[in-house]
Amino acid sequence: MGNCLNSSSAQVDTTLSSHASGTSKNVSKSSYSGPSSLTISSYSEMSSASSLQTPRSEGEILLSPSVKPFSFIELKNATRNFRPDSVLGEGGFGCVFKGWIDEFTLTASKPGSGMIIAVKKLKPEGYQGHKEWLTEVKYLGQLRHPNLVKLVGYCSEGDSRLLVYEFMPKGSLENHLFRRGPQPLPWATRLKVAIGAARGLAFLHDAEEQVIYRDFKASNILLDAEFNAKLSDFGLAKAGPTGDKTHVSTQVMGTQGYAAPEYIATGRLTAKSDVYSFGVVLLELLSGRRALDKQKTGIEQDLVEWAKPYLGDKRKLFRIMDTKLEGQYPQKAAYTAATLASQCLNLEPKTRPRMSQVLSSLEELQASKGASKDHHKVMSSPVGKSPMRQVPHHRQSPRNLTPLASPLPHHRQSLQVR
Ligand SMILES: Nc1ncnc2c1ncn2[C@@H]1O[C@H](COP(=O)(O)OP(=O)(O)OP(=O)(O)O)[C@@H](O)[C@H]1O
Ligand SMILES: [Mg+2]
Repeated sequence: MGNCLNSSSAQVDTTLSSHASGTSKNVSKSSYSGPSSLTISSYSEMSSASSLQTPRSEGEILLSPSVKPFSFIELKNATRNFRPDSVLGEGGFGCVFKGWIDEFTLTASKPGSGMIIAVKKLKPEGYQGHKEWLTEVKYLGQLRHPNLVKLVGYCSEGDSRLLVYEFMPKGSLENHLFRRGPQPLPWATRLKVAIGAARGLAFLHDAEEQVIYRDFKASNILLDAEFNAKLSDFGLAKAGPTGDKTHVSTQVMGTQGYAAPEYIATGRLTAKSDVYSFGVVLLELLSGRRALDKQKTGIEQDLVEWAKPYLGDKRKLFRIMDTKLEGQYPQKAAYTAATLASQCLNLEPKTRPRMSQVLSSLEELQASKGASKDHHKVMSSPVGKSPMRQVPHHRQSPRNLTPLASPLPHHRQSLQVR
C-alpha cells in the first residue's frame, strides 16, 4: 500500500486506448486537450436525464449538477491529509480514504461529524488514468439507483484526480468472502448480496439506453450497513449497442477470471458479458473461492473450470460449497443458485439469461419457503470430505488478461491491467 502513504499530488495517466481494431494509441497529457467526445446514454431513472441524451464534452460532464467539484485542499482536510490510518483500501486506480464532510454544505468537517465519505485518489502511476476517471464521473454522476454507489463529487486540480463517494460501511464483498477477519457471510446474506448486485446490473442493462458495466467482480460490489449491495467503479462502463447492432467492439478490458471468454477472444462486448461475470461472482458466493487463485495448482486456479462439473449434480454440489458455511445452507436453494450460475457461464452468450431473469430467479429463491432459513435440509457435507482447501486470505491482483485467442496485441491498454 506504498502509494497510499504518498500525499503529494497524483499525476494523471491520460493514456487513451483505442478499440478492437487491434491498435492502441497513447496520447500524452500535453496532447490531450481536455474535452473528449464521449457519447452519453439516456435513462429514465437518471437524475438529469436530459443531459445524457447528447454527446458531451469533458467540461459538460464535469458541470453535472448532481456531483460537486471539490478542491484538492477540501479533500485533504476532509481526510486529514490522506492519513494512512484512514485508508479503506487500494485498487488499480489508487487508494481509497475515509473522510468527513458536512452533509448540507459538503465542505470538510471534523472527523466524526457530518457525513462519512470515501475518497479515491488516483495514484501517480495509475493505470486507469484520466479516461476512466472521467467515465466514472460521466456514468455515476448521472445514474441514480439504490444498487449503485452514489458519487458525491470529484476533484480535478492540476494533475490530481479524485472521486468522492458515499461511504459503504461494510466495504467490499471481496473483503467478506476472501479475507481473514470479518465473520463468514451466512447463506441468507450471500443471497441478499447476489440479489442487490443483480438488481444493479439489471437496471443498467434495461435502461432506455443500455449500459454495459464491464467490470463486475467481488471487489466492485460494496456493502452498506445492512449488506445491501451497490456497484462501484464505472471507469470501464460502456454504452450498449444501439439500432440493429448486436455488440460494441472494444479493446478488451476487465479483470482476468471474470471477463467472458468470447469477449476476451473477439473484443465484442454485449450485456451478456456482464451476465458471465455475474455467474463467476455467484460461484464465488457459493464456494468462497476467488475467480482466479494463483496460490492453487492446476485446474483449481480457475474457479469456473474447477466448479463447472459439480454445478449440475445435486449430490456432488457440496464439494464446491464454501466450507465456511459449515453446511448451513438449504440444499435445494444452493442447487438452484448453482444451476443459475451455470447458465450465466454458458459459453454461448445468447443462451445466457438476461440479468432481469437472473434477478427474478434469485428473488424467487429468496421468497421460497425455507430458502434462507431452513438449515435442516442442509447438504450432508462432512467438511473433511470436501475437496476445498482453506481459502487464502491474502489479496491477489489478477490484473492481466491473457487471452491466448485474443487478436489484440499485448499493449498495456489492450490487455487491461487492473
Ligand atoms: N465507497 C466506499 N466505501 C467504503 N469502502 C470503499 C469504497 N470504495 C472503495 N472502498 C474500499 O477500497 C477498496 C479499493 O477499492 P478500488 O475500487 O479502488 O479497488 P478494487 O475494486 O479493489 O480494485 P480495482 O482497481 O481492480 O477495481 C475496496 O475494495 C473497498 O474495500
Ligand atoms: Mg473497485
